[in-house]
Amino acid sequence: MMAANGKKIWMDGRLVDFADAHVHVLNHSLHYGVGVFEGIRAYVTPRGPAIFRLKEHVARLITSARFYLMQIPYSAAEIERAVLETQAANPTYPSYIRPLVYRGEPALGVKNLTGKVSLAIAAIPAKKYLGEGSEAGIRAKISPFRKPHSDALPSYAKAAGNYLSGYLAGADATLDGYEEAILLDSNGYVAEGTGENIFVVRNGTVYTPGLESDILLGITRDTVIRIATDLGYPVVQKLVSVNELLSADEAFFTGTYAEIAPIKSVGHNVIGIKAPGPVTQQVMSVFQRALVGKEPKYTDWLAPVPQLAPAMTRTRR
Ligand SMILES: Cc1ncc(COP(=O)(O)O)c(C=O)c1O
Repeated sequence: MMAANGKKIWMDGRLVDFADAHVHVLNHSLHYGVGVFEGIRAYVTPRGPAIFRLKEHVARLITSARFYLMQIPYSAAEIERAVLETQAANPTYPSYIRPLVYRGEPALGVKNLTGKVSLAIAAIPAKKYLGEGSEAGIRAKISPFRKPHSDALPSYAKAAGNYLSGYLAGADATLDGYEEAILLDSNGYVAEGTGENIFVVRNGTVYTPGLESDILLGITRDTVIRIATDLGYPVVQKLVSVNELLSADEAFFTGTYAEIAPIKSVGHNVIGIKAPGPVTQQVMSVFQRALVGKEPKYTDWLAPVPQLAPAMTRTRR
């Protein structure tokens, strides 16, 4: 699991010591879940440390914040630079970077929009997310808790409050002895894991649920669609039934933290013959090389981390 520590945390333009990164207990985001965040990864590559798909993560953070009426007081370029500086100040690899946009001042009242919008960024050492055995396949269960419909909580915004169903599903799966939960959408189709998208493979075609299943449009999902397509596999985004999942040749999760995690079984059903299956294995191998800058075709996805952290002097607009 995640080791929740690092050396410095970037808070509104300043790198502060980990122990001093505080906000007021009556802040609006803590009480009502109105915070938006990202999960980003940095790896060591032959050309030095680099952040994977930084631009796309920052773009999604801005979209998520806009939906919840939080105007981030920094431009996309400034946020990208701040993420790079935070990573440079916490030079442990592989690393997990967590930017969070929130209203950090005391301001109770659910429709209170007065609290100042803040940005904090942490970079902490990353470990395996879905258990040490995840490369050989994880055991998942279909959760009794479903994804909320996007009419209620839009799934394309990566918002703190969206994670309540994931929390319940994840806790239920863990207490039942599984490594991950699979949440269905409100119509009973397969949606995603608690922090991952899901893919199934059948007869050489790769399938994954689309936005109509109230999923987060994952950046790893997008990466895997591109890699699988480049490898020559047809990739289809469609409603995926539980039946299709249970009878698939292969299934796997994708996520920034989980990377690609093959699914060995769902409940009592074993998926395919052996996890990871051949298509999963092929996609995983290209993906893992791309993350560490060893696939020339995909090096544009990596943003180099500067060696030294220059002082962040920018002030709020
Ligand atoms: C609910 C949910 N779905 C999917 C994902 C995968 O998204 P990404 O690949 O951008 O990390 C995540 C992780 O951020 C998530 O929390």
